Amino acid sequence: MKTKNLIELSNKYIANTYSRFPIVIVRGSGCKVWDIDGKEYLDFVAGLAVCNLGHCHPNVVQAIQEQAAKLIHISNLYYIEPQARLAELLCGYSFANKAFFCNSGAEANEAAIKLARKYFKDKGESRFQIITMEKSFHGRTMATLAATGQKKIQMGFEPLLEKFIYVPFNDVNAVKNSITSQTCAVMVEPIQGEGGVNIPSDNYLLDLKALCKDKGILLIFDEVQVGMGRTGKLFAYENYGVKPDIMTLAKGLAGGVAIGAMLATDEVAKSFVPGAHASTFGGNPLATAAGIAAIKTICGEKILENCEGIGSYMLNELNKFKKQYPFIKEVRGKGLMIGMELDIAGADIVKKCLEKGLLINCTADKILRFIPPLIVTKSDVDRCINILKSVFDSMNNLEIF
Ligand SMILES: Cc1ncc(COP(=O)(O)O)c(C=O)c1O
Repeated sequence: MKTKNLIELSNKYIANTYSRFPIVIVRGSGCKVWDIDGKEYLDFVAGLAVCNLGHCHPNVVQAIQEQAAKLIHISNLYYIEPQARLAELLCGYSFANKAFFCNSGAEANEAAIKLARKYFKDKGESRFQIITMEKSFHGRTMATLAATGQKKIQMGFEPLLEKFIYVPFNDVNAVKNSITSQTCAVMVEPIQGEGGVNIPSDNYLLDLKALCKDKGILLIFDEVQVGMGRTGKLFAYENYGVKPDIMTLAKGLAGGVAIGAMLATDEVAKSFVPGAHASTFGGNPLATAAGIAAIKTICGEKILENCEGIGSYMLNELNKFKKQYPFIKEVRGKGLMIGMELDIAGADIVKKCLEKGLLINCTADKILRFIPPLIVTKSDVDRCINILKSVFDSMNNLEIF
């Protein structure tokens, strides 16, 4: 099928919830993907921070193939071997004692919201209010869009689920002033992703933790985007020396296979009893087998070191652009979660990069986001930088300022 036909077919039969670029990607390997016409692209989007090990990593492919030949799905009415083994790995590497598996980031956050409320209900306390941050993103289900501190995500879906309060990111006092006798938790992305790659200021997360402890409320980290090695540590919270009570994961957790997880301490997780929460597909053999392969590869093959090293190289190279191109306001990031804030809209730059064989993303209108696979090499980064340079040069030449 040709690109044009496939676009027509999609437009005819698929709900129109995405504005898509007019290409059809049919194959991927490492940091590269190819479209239906055979054109190659360097992929610095990585399925929106999903393909942390690159496309079709052999360890993940092998795990999926072997598991698919044995058992693809079985109900959670029975014990599931790879599910238990993935939970053991996740708990072993993190602060947590228990995992609940689901199929996406939004579902993981739904589970976290439910658990936080149930924990206090079980203690006989009327606490159900959750403080989240402005510019946050927690998903698009009814509870998680209510948790998301962005009007544009909520518009059209009112009335929203009640009892979420939004305060500015990086402002501990604002959180402190919003805590009431009804507050059960503070929910925060350690680094905001969709909101514009916003980095926590020194001690912000530490201070949040101290505040939550002092007030006897829970701290929930949404690591759906920043978890699984993206910041150079397996979990972003490790960069800041703070452990949450609950953490959510998804995107990079299973090398590209749909999965979500909510992790919690024993103390908090004990409120999830049979009947409290469930998911038919959650923790299925196929996804959890892929998850085991992904986490073992991330932790066993110097992926985190590569992420940290290449990430700071890329941050440095991008920062050099600031002198040359006046429309660049700031470059910020941690590991391979990098944002370039512009004075102008970024959509056109993304389009021009795509034409030149580079996939990047723009979030919050003016922030170019670079979230390549964590296996990216220095020469991949150099290629990305060269393409960006040629696009930026063409804009300078147009004298758009
Ligand atoms: C921090 C964060 N939380 C939650 C979500 C929602 O994840 P999903 O799209 O898998 O539901 C996202 C997705 O971008 C995210 O970045």
